[in-house]
Amino acid sequence: MPAGDSFFITTPIFYVNDVPHIGHAYTEVASDVLARWHRQRGDDTWLLTGTDEHGQKILRTATSHDVSPKEWADKLVEESWKPLLETVNIANDDFIRTTDARHETGVQLFLQKLYDDGFIYQGEFEGFYCVGCEEYKQPSDLVDGTGPFEGQQVCAIHSKPVEVLKESNYFFRMSDFEQPLLDLYASQPDFVQPASVRNEIVQFVKQGLRDLSISRASFDWGIKVPWDESHVVYVWFDALLNYVTATGYGVDQEEFDRRWPAVHIVGKDIARFHAVIWPAMLLAAGLPVPKRVFGHGWLLVGGEKMSKSKLTGIAPQQITDTFGVDAFRYYFMRAITFGQDGNFSWEDISARYQAELANGFGNLASRITAMVGRYFDGTVPIAGDLQPADLAIRETELRVTREADGAIERFAINEALAVIWELVDALNGYITEQEPWVLAKSEAQRERLATVLSTSLRGLGTLAVLLSPFIPEAAQKLWQSIGQGELTSQPIDRAAEWSSAPTVTPLAAGLFPRIEQPEAGAA
Ligand code: MSP
Repeated sequence: MPAGDSFFITTPIFYVNDVPHIGHAYTEVASDVLARWHRQRGDDTWLLTGTDEHGQKILRTATSHDVSPKEWADKLVEESWKPLLETVNIANDDFIRTTDARHETGVQLFLQKLYDDGFIYQGEFEGFYCVGCEEYKQPSDLVDGTGPFEGQQVCAIHSKPVEVLKESNYFFRMSDFEQPLLDLYASQPDFVQPASVRNEIVQFVKQGLRDLSISRASFDWGIKVPWDESHVVYVWFDALLNYVTATGYGVDQEEFDRRWPAVHIVGKDIARFHAVIWPAMLLAAGLPVPKRVFGHGWLLVGGEKMSKSKLTGIAPQQITDTFGVDAFRYYFMRAITFGQDGNFSWEDISARYQAELANGFGNLASRITAMVGRYFDGTVPIAGDLQPADLAIRETELRVTREADGAIERFAINEALAVIWELVDALNGYITEQEPWVLAKSEAQRERLATVLSTSLRGLGTLAVLLSPFIPEAAQKLWQSIGQGELTSQPIDRAAEWSSAPTVTPLAAGLFPRIEQPEAGAA
């Protein structure tokens, strides 16, 4: 993709019934890394995140705490969800709440249009509803309950009983979109990714789509249906629209055209909503469908999907307090193949912190900047004739930049990091072989020493640029120590072309200090 294109990326908007855990932080960090990378390529980037505040789940939680749902949502947004963005250093461009007036207006406009165009009708519905999922379930989605729910049918995701609901609702003619959706998946094979999620979605739609109940009359915590105020809009129909109401739908056509369509990053548990219901809604409204829907895997703890309701939840701050924000970001992006499930353990993060961040990268940065300080008084040395080993480093910088950019384009975030690490390893190997501390002992080797340190410094600067979307704080510290200013102004797809400043200030403290007592076993 040439730099300068529009890149609008979204996270799911999170339910405010509970506080964030590392699964939510994982989605945020992945989206933020992609956004930071594109922003630094010069793309017209927009990262949207926010909160999903309507529906029965939030209503019940608020009621059980003796507050109104709006008071509950306000409290959770301010005390938990916005602080999450600080905790894991998210550079979002907007934060939408489904209780924002801009959102409520947009949802009503959209719904009215679908109603006027004949895509909505009134009907009767009876089915099993899971409040945890905020979704009607098919009998095949249910399993036998255990423990307190022995003898009952429970939701396979939440392990809690479903409720039988019988309602007279408004319905969206989703069944009209079965063939158009299948055509979409065929003509845009990368619309849903990864392939495992795509296959599941295609199979699901091939089995036939039913019309979707999109309103509720049994409670009133939601956006009112514009032509019948005794109904509120179904929470998923409301929530999905955040992606367009945040970018000017119906009120600011210029902004809307500039941003939409988006790339959606979601957990695979909610890929179906984004890859089936959402494009059907957009097709009905005559709007472009998303560019891509990427369903990432689950974070598992002890082999089980981590969730608060199953008591396996870990707060992001438990990890950042011990290892720091950059290490949190690095670990989850590196250790888990984006698109697959991955197990979290304190032992694993601790081992990677030590081996890869502290020893592999941090140490390299400290050694090189210290040697420039010691042998050249902090003045950047001028390289002499380049030997094959020096040229090999240069080539690695260029190749790694190209390959990492390609990996990000494919959402292969962990591959991008792995390829960047080839430069870390190459530089460590180069220093070991060239032994600048030996060269420094002989005046006759002064020019060779200058070449080796200049080559190392160049590689280090390239690493700072390439790593900035992943570990923004450490990368900026390193960039400053090599005499540079604002890191994000160096285009990332030209990472190896940065021009060096005259002086280097050795890194006083390491980028990743030794951690004596990681909280092993705390999970
Ligand atoms: N509110 C809906 C989304 C509406 S989007 C229009 C919702 N919210 S949620 O709070 O339950 O968060 C869902 C997202 O959090 C998942 O899609 C996923 O991205 C992330 N995760 C929640 N638990 C997770 C794991 N254990 N592992 C990885 N991601 C997880 O669904």
